[in-house]
Amino acid sequence: MPPHDNPEPHRAKVITTFQQKGGAGKSTIGVNVAAVLGENNPPSDPSDPDCPCPIVAAGIDLQGSLDEWARKVPEERLPFDYVITRGKLGELPALVKDPAVTRIIVDTPGFADIDPTKDLDAEDPLGSGPAAEAMREILALTDLALVPVVPVETLTHGPAEYTIERLLRPHGIKFRVVINNWDSGADRTRADLKDMQEWCEVRGYPYMPQAIRRYKIHAKAPEAGLTVIQYPESGTALRAREDFYKLALAVEGLI
Ligand SMILES: Nc1ncnc2c1ncn2[C@@H]1O[C@H](COP(=O)(O)OP(=O)(O)OP(=O)(O)O)[C@@H](O)[C@H]1O
Ligand SMILES: [Mg+2]
Repeated sequence: MPPHDNPEPHRAKVITTFQQKGGAGKSTIGVNVAAVLGENNPPSDPSDPDCPCPIVAAGIDLQGSLDEWARKVPEERLPFDYVITRGKLGELPALVKDPAVTRIIVDTPGFADIDPTKDLDAEDPLGSGPAAEAMREILALTDLALVPVVPVETLTHGPAEYTIERLLRPHGIKFRVVINNWDSGADRTRADLKDMQEWCEVRGYPYMPQAIRRYKIHAKAPEAGLTVIQYPESGTALRAREDFYKLALAVEGLI
């Protein structure tokens, strides 16, 4: 049979944020990449509130409060659909096959090796239990992992390395470090950004060319239910948004 008569089954691309340490920006990055992709990939009938969005944000637990965020959205509808699996297995693998869905952006919680006596050569550091199984399911589906690190905040650096060396590399998962929460005004020589990039380079970790700068508007956004595409117009908002447009463009180039 010629190849065009036997097309590959549909499979949405899955982009997942992973970082063992909390607070580095997994949820901020996940929600805003979903918003930018969603703005550019609207539902086929935007006037129909039941028409599915091709872009879906997914969370495995209530942490990160995607649900809370979405309920505060001042607009009628987010530019993406979202699902929270609460760790239930099987939902994401089914969603990947949904012909209406093209991209799934998954936000994960931090994780830790819950058994310190476990052999370092053990398959992965996720431990056991339902949350670990949910994370393994996501790992198996992920096309591109995003690992946030924060310049100067060294508490995010070791856990990023751990995430990459123990979780992503052993599973052969394509990843990019995302330098987030960079205080671009603090150091005029930009040494902190350069140091962070060098940290990646010496370890052979590819990083996204666009760092996400630190802006108060991002920190206030979950409370207001806003994503970057809904920020009110201002110079700061444009710069804050620009970082995520560039990040989303880079993501699209990698999947
Ligand atoms: N670029 C940024 N500028 C300003 N604030 C930011 C930025 N990125 C993240 N933050 C803020 O830092 C805090 C932690 O970010 P976020 O919730 O995205 O981290 P996380 O990795 O999802 O954490 P957890 O593992 O606990 O879910 C939040 O208050 C968020 O608003
Ligand atoms: Mg989070």
